[in-house]
Amino acid sequence: MTVISVPQAFNEEELYVDLRSIFGHPLFLKCEGFNFAGSIKLKAAAAMVEAADRDGVLTPDSILVESSSGNLGVALSMIAASKGYRFLCVTDSRCNLSTRLLMEALGSEVHVISDPAGVGGFLGARLDYVRALCASDDRYVWLNQYTNQGNWQAHYRTTAPAIARQFPWLDVLFVGAGTTGTLTGCARYFKRRHRPVRIVAVDSVGSVTFGGRPGRRMIPGLGASVRPPMLDESLIDEVVRVDEADTIRACHRLARRGFLFGGSTGTVVSGAMDWLSRHDADGLTAVAIAPDLGERYLDTIYQTNWIEAIYGNDVLRDDVDVPVQAVHQTAF
Ligand SMILES: Cc1ncc(COP(=O)(O)O)c(C=O)c1O
Repeated sequence: MTVISVPQAFNEEELYVDLRSIFGHPLFLKCEGFNFAGSIKLKAAAAMVEAADRDGVLTPDSILVESSSGNLGVALSMIAASKGYRFLCVTDSRCNLSTRLLMEALGSEVHVISDPAGVGGFLGARLDYVRALCASDDRYVWLNQYTNQGNWQAHYRTTAPAIARQFPWLDVLFVGAGTTGTLTGCARYFKRRHRPVRIVAVDSVGSVTFGGRPGRRMIPGLGASVRPPMLDESLIDEVVRVDEADTIRACHRLARRGFLFGGSTGTVVSGAMDWLSRHDADGLTAVAIAPDLGERYLDTIYQTNWIEAIYGNDVLRDDVDVPVQAVHQTAF
């Protein structure tokens, strides 16, 4: 039995889905969506608020403010409610409706930016708004997930060691890149260990994180319109870029087998499968990280009208599935 008294005290750290029967390549998917915030961003949020508390940055008058595409905002809303702080989330029009409602239900205020900045896109506009707010009133405390060391350190201390414990013979790790907190924390952990692990970053086409050309991206979580300051490319062995149409196909293929994951999981799985199909993957131990679950994306990624309006009518038509075999449950 697990008994908790604050929501951030619970996180399922040891759950993996074996994707071989669904995609035909060996890949263990680490599920990070089973906590009260519903995503991996709980770890970064908890670490950043703890550090601010410890450093005396927060007072009873403080108003936390953060730019978030959604999941960090939900995690901070939850922690702020639990600790009695006010929280303002600055997001943009790509934030899912359910995510916004969730933050409001937890007592947070949400500001939605609807016009991207000329340089820096939506993220640039969100950051400009946060900076102006902090300059106008010193009660605002900006944790700044893009530069806060607590963001990557959370994964260095928890996510990566949890993977290493379960997969001591890990060969390759696939991690999606948003702020690059997860990627940097995991990469730094595995690079400091003596056994080499190949770190493959997964990014969306249209993101500038690894120097690509900026382009339209509709799925929140991964990718950036401003290069993340936390990124240390010397830690990364390879980058795989995934088209959002492939993200949609991977999400739906998982859903057809009963696994409803979020958009960034579709991106990471699609990128990983592409990489595995180009390498001799049979003897490899490969893990990918699934940042959240699919319920927040019911009105986008799992909604036919939305998909067809953005990616066209054929996006799901050509997807060839691996036939379902009589699947017998494996539990450990
Ligand atoms: C759904 C989802 N996936 C992936 C990420 C990226 O994680 P990170 O910011 O650690 O790179 C985020 C970050 O907000 C997210 O919400």
